[in-house]
Amino acid sequence: MSQTSSGGITLRELPLPVRLVLTTFLMSVGLGYFWGMAQIHFKHSSGGEPLPGIKDLVGRFSGVPWPKIEKDESLAVVPAERPQIDPNAPKVPGVKIKSIIADRCAVCHGNGGEKDDVPLEKYVDLEKVFVKTSNYPKGQFHFVINGNRTKFNKDAMKQAFFEKSDDWKDQLKALGKETLEKQREAELKSVVDWIDAGAPEATYDADAFPLPDPVVGKIITPKYATPAPQLPKNAEKAVPKKVDPFKEAKSKQLSINSLTQSTHAHLLSFAMLWTLTGLVFAYSSYPTFVKCVLSPIVLIAQVADISCWWLARLEGVGPYFAMVIMGTGAIVGLGLGLQIVLSLFNMYSYKGKMVLFVIMLVGLVGFGLVATKVVIPQLEEEKKTAEARS
Ligand code: HEC
Repeated sequence: MSQTSSGGITLRELPLPVRLVLTTFLMSVGLGYFWGMAQIHFKHSSGGEPLPGIKDLVGRFSGVPWPKIEKDESLAVVPAERPQIDPNAPKVPGVKIKSIIADRCAVCHGNGGEKDDVPLEKYVDLEKVFVKTSNYPKGQFHFVINGNRTKFNKDAMKQAFFEKSDDWKDQLKALGKETLEKQREAELKSVVDWIDAGAPEATYDADAFPLPDPVVGKIITPKYATPAPQLPKNAEKAVPKKVDPFKEAKSKQLSINSLTQSTHAHLLSFAMLWTLTGLVFAYSSYPTFVKCVLSPIVLIAQVADISCWWLARLEGVGPYFAMVIMGTGAIVGLGLGLQIVLSLFNMYSYKGKMVLFVIMLVGLVGFGLVATKVVIPQLEEEKKTAEARS
């Protein structure tokens, strides 16, 4: 039984306690891998799909649209065409948009704030969350401030105007709930109106935006009310309205910073894990050829996978490397699955195999339950949200 290539010892011959440790180890790695898949789903795949498709991967890693399109210059934003304000134009009731965003958003989305990785301190920062994409037809900023008031997460920032604002408690005492709510609703409306008007940069710089609805100026928090020079009549037209697929893809691309973080964390832990699962399999009693292929392949595919994350950033050929990620990812998953299952069954005699079989059956049933009760409804929910946005 033990004509092997691994120095005489095979898994089957190990003392029972050692085999039990290895068994629990392999099973935990298997479970961990499923959680890894869930993580990839939330990080990279677009609404409603279990795992990222080619378009998601190319956007995430290469930052360009897919299928390939030519750059259309007409989509580029021409700054000179942005509406300018004439300081001598007649003044109407207006609002200090820049101050509102500074107080309501940049406190967290700014230097030292709890979410300073997405800064909202300057107009250039804001432009990134104004980009209209298929997920956010009016831009992400517009989307989050119109989100659910009962939640506070990456899809709902409305509370920033209310409960999450610095001065909420003090003002509640001073003004009472009804007045305060009205003031804050007016702040929110003025920002929405500003974005709907194309978020003219000049009115941000001047901290004076002429309100389309003057009533808002009467009820808004007094410190944000200001007279503002009227905008030129054609202001609306000058603002680009089209979705620029290049900007959209670029806005999804992982930053060098997070990619570096991912690379170092993944490379170190995978090197460790896949070496161990590979070693366990290497001590099985399968033919040497099978062991020589299957033992190292997971780690090799993993390193290729991570290399492609970086190669995908190359100009021109990048997207093809992004596609390779699908293949390398599949090899890792398949290879690991085989290593685990084959090693486990190689470790025990007839009785142990039966026990393993029962455990796996239970695991499979459990997985089926989770899939029907949690995963599938979650995916359907995401599909609905994705559809509602477009
Ligand atoms: C009290 C702190 C705080 C305030 C105030 C705040 N945010 Fe946030 N914001 C956060 C946190 C924390 C997250 C991450 C939430 C998560 O991932 O669940 C976030 C996430 C976001 C995101 C999503 C970022 C991403 O990762 O895609 C946007 C867009 C956003 N906020 C916009 C705003 C806007 C606009 C305002 C002002 C109206 C605002 N936020 C006010 C803390 C804040």
